[in-house]
Amino acid sequence: MLESQRIDPLSHARGQGVSSEFAPSRPAILSVATEVPSAQVTTAELAERLGVSEDWIVSRTGIRARPVAAPDERLSEFAARAGSAALSRAGVEPADVDLVLVATLTQDELMPNAAPVVAHAVGADRAGAIDLGAACTGFLSGLSLGAAQIETGRAERVLLIGADFTTRIVDWEDKRTAPLFGDGVGAVVLGPAAGEVGAIGPIILGADGSGAPAIHIDHADRKLRMDGPEVYRHAVARMAEATVSAVEAAGLGLEDVDLFVYHQANGRILRALAEKLQLPSERVVDVIENLGNSSAATLPLGLAAAEREGRLWPGARVLLSAFGAGFTWGAGVVEWGGLEDA
Ligand SMILES: CC(C)(COP(=O)(O)OP(=O)(O)OC[C@H]1O[C@@H](n2cnc3c(N)ncnc32)[C@H](O)[C@@H]1OP(=O)(O)O)[C@@H](O)C(=O)NCCC(=O)NCCS
Repeated sequence: MLESQRIDPLSHARGQGVSSEFAPSRPAILSVATEVPSAQVTTAELAERLGVSEDWIVSRTGIRARPVAAPDERLSEFAARAGSAALSRAGVEPADVDLVLVATLTQDELMPNAAPVVAHAVGADRAGAIDLGAACTGFLSGLSLGAAQIETGRAERVLLIGADFTTRIVDWEDKRTAPLFGDGVGAVVLGPAAGEVGAIGPIILGADGSGAPAIHIDHADRKLRMDGPEVYRHAVARMAEATVSAVEAAGLGLEDVDLFVYHQANGRILRALAEKLQLPSERVVDVIENLGNSSAATLPLGLAAAEREGRLWPGARVLLSAFGAGFTWGAGVVEWGGLEDA
């Protein structure tokens, strides 16, 4: 870098000579909305097609049906509809969005990324737009990045979307993976907390690339391949550790958390986590039965279901945790800031 172009980091941090449009503030999740394809494939249909038993799949995954996008349905259109709904629920005008983040590994085209297409479709014409890739940990990673933008005053309002049509990368002939996955989208609006409640606490993120072969898609066959038992072991161990670390970092104990929203990878992983951490099942969200694993979308889908069921209220403490390919994982505690009558 040329000497004359360098920014003195100290004077930059002090804001000398560099003005920021926004003031740093305490970020919160202001709203959530989802969009799921209407067509589905039931586990009974899939089992018949694969020549395996429906009971084997249900007992190991908890999944009875998964939404599947039609070939002409576009991920970016689902993401835009969920994004628009989240903005309207939060009372935020699209023109006031500063940043659109889309966590996905199944964007409609290899290029462009989904975020600019979604930003345009929702009317967020002033916003920057970035896709982020951390597989099933993508939404949580986006929550960390989006919250940091608001905390530092680099943005005021962020539209964060977790969106995946995972069935587009699933080999329908592979009995070890096809039963697990489904399609869906969930969006949240992040912005300055309104009043006393609402916060995004510390988010602990981790990664271990030595686990890369356990879930991967290569360019040649473009289908998801997975070592199920290996993923299972790591998913339970890493999400359990991250849960404890995140709750501690937030200055809380597990008993202070009102709701645990985990990546909906499969029902057996959720049960194993609850058992390992001795969490009462009524405080663990399990919506996998009719949704399957929609990768980056599962956390906002879980939040939205919990809100619909009256299990979220302004001020509720929610643990979010995810695990995915990479391996990547993480956890964080959020104080729900959604509007009471949303
Ligand atoms: C995929 C998963 C359900 C498989 O269950 P499992 O008990 O570990 O099963 P295995 O893969 O060891 O297979 C055990 C046997 O069942 C068979 N099997 C695999 N899938 C089957 C199916 N759908 N129906 C019937 N039998 C099946 C296997 O062929 C194997 O038989 P074999 O020993 O004769 O070859 C389980 O490993 C799992 O949940 N892993 C985590 C995956 C996940 O959630 N990934 C997403 C994370 S982001």
